[in-house]
Amino acid sequence: MKLLGISGSLRRASFNTALLHAAAELLPSGHTLAIHDLHGLPLFDQDVEEQGDPAEVVALKDAIAAADALLLASPEYNGGISGVLKNAIDWASRKGTARETAPLAGKRVCIVGASPGITGTVRAQDALRLVLRRAGAVVEPQGEVLVFQAHTKIADGKLADERTRELLARHLQTFVAPTGRTS
Ligand code: FNR
Repeated sequence: MKLLGISGSLRRASFNTALLHAAAELLPSGHTLAIHDLHGLPLFDQDVEEQGDPAEVVALKDAIAAADALLLASPEYNGGISGVLKNAIDWASRKGTARETAPLAGKRVCIVGASPGITGTVRAQDALRLVLRRAGAVVEPQGEVLVFQAHTKIADGKLADERTRELLARHLQTFVAPTGRTS
């Protein structure tokens, strides 16, 4: 499976981006994860969309369309998902003027998240599920990876906590092999 990872944080030392890098290492063999950077993605504007998607939007939509599935990592901001990620989802939920289908429609999505707090983005993940379903994506699996107190588990962009690495590896395994069989 070819996965595309998208982080809802633009922060250089983002815990959520670090989770995506860890996921790339922990995916079962035979599966790959490329990360798409949201720096430079313009704010959604329906007037702009009517003139044709800007280059950064075309790149995002092409990357999503080419992927078998998405791995999204969102920070929790004020109990919801980041504006950066919501903006990307809004663009990708639409066909624009040049496509037959919206890239998010029917796309399988796996969600993870990290925060320094004790709830580990649980509220943002719930909010993200609602938004994605509304956009026609298929959110799986039902289990959650909530990396709470992320500052104690992630250092220098590396997920160091062994227990969290195991959880993430299992979550990814279930996602890429939905029968749940691990061998
Ligand atoms: C936060 N943070 C935060 N954390 C949390 O667990 N629940 C929340 O509701 C919020 N709200 C919030 C709002 C705003 C505006 C900011 C800037 C931060 C803290 C947040 O989890 C923390 O900054 C993370 O480090 C952000 O994720 P990245 O950038 O590390 O991926």
